[in-house]
Amino acid sequence: MELYHGSIVYSPSAEKLAEHTDSYLAVEGGVVEGIYPTVPESLRGAPITELGQNVLIPAFSDLHVHAPQYPQRGLAMDELLPDWLAHHTFPLEARFAEMDFARAVYDAFVDDLIAHGTLHAVVFGTIHPASTGYLLSRLESLGLDAYVGKVNMDTASPDELRETTEGSLRETARFLEQYGANRHARPILTPRFAPTCSRELLFGLGRLGAKYGVGLQTHLVESRWEAAEARRLFPDCSCDTQIYERAGLLDNGPVVGAHFIFPSPGDIRILKKHGGWAVQCPDATISVIAGIMSAGALADAGVKLALGSDLAAGHSAAVYTQAGRAVQLGKLKAFYEPEGNRAISFAQAFHMATKQGGALFGKVGSFEPGYRFDALAIGGVADAFQPLTPAQTVERFCYAGETKHIRARYLAGKKLGEKGGETI
Ligand code: GUN
Ligand code: FE
Repeated sequence: MELYHGSIVYSPSAEKLAEHTDSYLAVEGGVVEGIYPTVPESLRGAPITELGQNVLIPAFSDLHVHAPQYPQRGLAMDELLPDWLAHHTFPLEARFAEMDFARAVYDAFVDDLIAHGTLHAVVFGTIHPASTGYLLSRLESLGLDAYVGKVNMDTASPDELRETTEGSLRETARFLEQYGANRHARPILTPRFAPTCSRELLFGLGRLGAKYGVGLQTHLVESRWEAAEARRLFPDCSCDTQIYERAGLLDNGPVVGAHFIFPSPGDIRILKKHGGWAVQCPDATISVIAGIMSAGALADAGVKLALGSDLAAGHSAAVYTQAGRAVQLGKLKAFYEPEGNRAISFAQAFHMATKQGGALFGKVGSFEPGYRFDALAIGGVADAFQPLTPAQTVERFCYAGETKHIRARYLAGKKLGEKGGETI
């Protein structure tokens, strides 16, 4: 048993942050045992880590991020999705046929995730099984919880990124066979989005999902253009989400719909019915997508929500700044489209970034008893002018924080090193 003494903040529900000062968080075998105002009799003599001025919070979950796009962050942010993909993203992703390039980028990407306090992620690779496999193995060896997808695209894609339907299915089956038994970083089906996937491919992936018990990540009603393309290409489906439902892709494991900005009532009904997550990626939608998720209304409708960095349509791996940005966007949405929309609170945004997103991986993202102790100690955001409560420290960190404000990272109770996540 170990104890952590000081200020502790977490998010048991979307309504309110839980805040403890001068308290003791007990960890047994990497799992939270409880939080106490004083050291309980039974824990006398257990080693105590003093948090000092730092605040202990759960580590973040990034439910939508493109590892191969890491070198592209902060570039071409003045373009919109179709041009951004064609001119920048697709040429970069084609380079992941080269293993040396892929290894270097993926090592840097994983370091950056950890540096930003993201210890759980749902990740797009590229169409290339070997380099995507390397990414998955790297995450697995570090013990980070992740779902990683070999991307599928067999139509309306540049030559270097267009698979044959049979080749895409064959390589995906092999990928699932190879990595399906992983403990931490597991495969997930990853058809890029409806415009680049044929009906045969999606139905074939649905059969693989059922056979191997593997879920789905994709971009769902992410832009007006994409939603219209989905309707044009699949005229027998009433909405984007129904394409995946008909293909049998929503019943085999976690379902992650990135963006979900322009859902019809049908999209909402279907995603909710299958227990999928809608992932808001605030920076990405400001930059290349130009739409705002109705997060408040979706939450009220009972859809599970999470946050994503969407590197590199989003320019940073920091999920914590996405929490601040989600609050800002909620206000804009409610201001410009008041009908049916409401702003969201910081407590709700932090919940999306921690417990609600973390639920996809199991018991991570909170400090209730039984949750894995995946945690960050944050500090250094206060100034000399006024003291901050622990909850205010967290809020400021989510707006103005940087990696230097993450003073310690813990994965299943073990402290991570500053670089590359080596345990020390
Ligand atoms: N839609 C299809 N591919 C992509 C991508 O790489 N990034 C984003 N943001 N949207 C997409
Ligand atoms: Fe994306």
